[in-house]
Amino acid sequence: MVNKSKNNLVTLEEYIIQAQNRFPGATGELSQLLRDIGLAAKIISREVNKAGITNILGFEGSTNIHGEAVKKLDIFADGQLISALERSLITCMVISEENDGVVKLGARNGKYIVYLDPLDGSSNIDVNVSIGSIFSIYMREARFDQTLRDDDALQPGVKQVAAGYVLYGSSTTLCYTTGLGVSMFTLDPSIGEFILSDRQIKLPEHGSIYSINEGSYNSWPLGLKKYIKYCQEEDAETNRPYSARYIGSMVADIHRTLIKGGIFIYPHSKRYPSGKLRLMYECNPLSFIIEQAGGMATNGKERIMEIQPEAIHQQTPIYIGSKENVTTVMEFLEEYQEASV
Ligand code: AHG
Ligand code: MN
Ligand code: MN
Repeated sequence: MVNKSKNNLVTLEEYIIQAQNRFPGATGELSQLLRDIGLAAKIISREVNKAGITNILGFEGSTNIHGEAVKKLDIFADGQLISALERSLITCMVISEENDGVVKLGARNGKYIVYLDPLDGSSNIDVNVSIGSIFSIYMREARFDQTLRDDDALQPGVKQVAAGYVLYGSSTTLCYTTGLGVSMFTLDPSIGEFILSDRQIKLPEHGSIYSINEGSYNSWPLGLKKYIKYCQEEDAETNRPYSARYIGSMVADIHRTLIKGGIFIYPHSKRYPSGKLRLMYECNPLSFIIEQAGGMATNGKERIMEIQPEAIHQQTPIYIGSKENVTTVMEFLEEYQEASV
């Protein structure tokens, strides 16, 4: 961990500039984009904290008002992030969970394409459980004299130039990567700055936590059922039985996995034949973070970041976390492949 003596604090802004200075040819545009997202995150964080107060008051009113407040926060986060990106004129298009189509911004010649899950885990807002925002950044491939097409956004995750998330939890944490490791920042609300808390996070090779919505057990592929039973068996050498932890906000579940190791799974099932989570603004960015921290992410057969996307809101199954855990679940899936749903 970084030394946090009072005179040695590094803010997100300083850190981004320092990182940029290591690349003499850098134009500073990606740095600006990351700073814009940092600013939007502070505004969303403030609103998320206020939503807590609204919710407490909401219990005295009707459940409808409570529900509307939750929805409003999704839309608020979307609006804040998009207008932050619009202001700096370096993003040509944004794809967000909250918008059906591609949103083309004023800066048609902007260099970057940004995917957003503005508020992840929104069903947890009304119960004061951690939620987050996720972003994924690509370089546009069309030349500036070519018309920008929606398909320009359909790039595989390996082409991400940066990705990250903000977790609104007991504190607000921002984590991002540009492909040179994962850095983590914690918001100090008293000065309104994200302060560097770790510059090279590595997750354990093997973890003792599995994270999955076990309510869907009956419709899982057989290999997955067998793997979860394996996690629950006793074996001192491999530290089993593992603990089960499932928050229901992917950002929060991945944040725990990043720090403590283990595996997070959202499989395909009868209800979600292609998985539930979105490839472009949930799975790719969080896979980039986990891989950069030394972990793995797959759909059961293929590396998540190598999937060629066909649609902006495409879903995928995901198995993500410590290398050893992901490798083991893949062995189970392979062994029982024929019998799967
Ligand atoms: P969102 O709030 O952006 O729609 O995402 C919710 C997602 C994800 O955060 C979480 O891992 C998953 O939905 C939980 O789904 P289940 O309730 O089916 O477990
Ligand atoms: Mn989400
Ligand atoms: Mn969302």
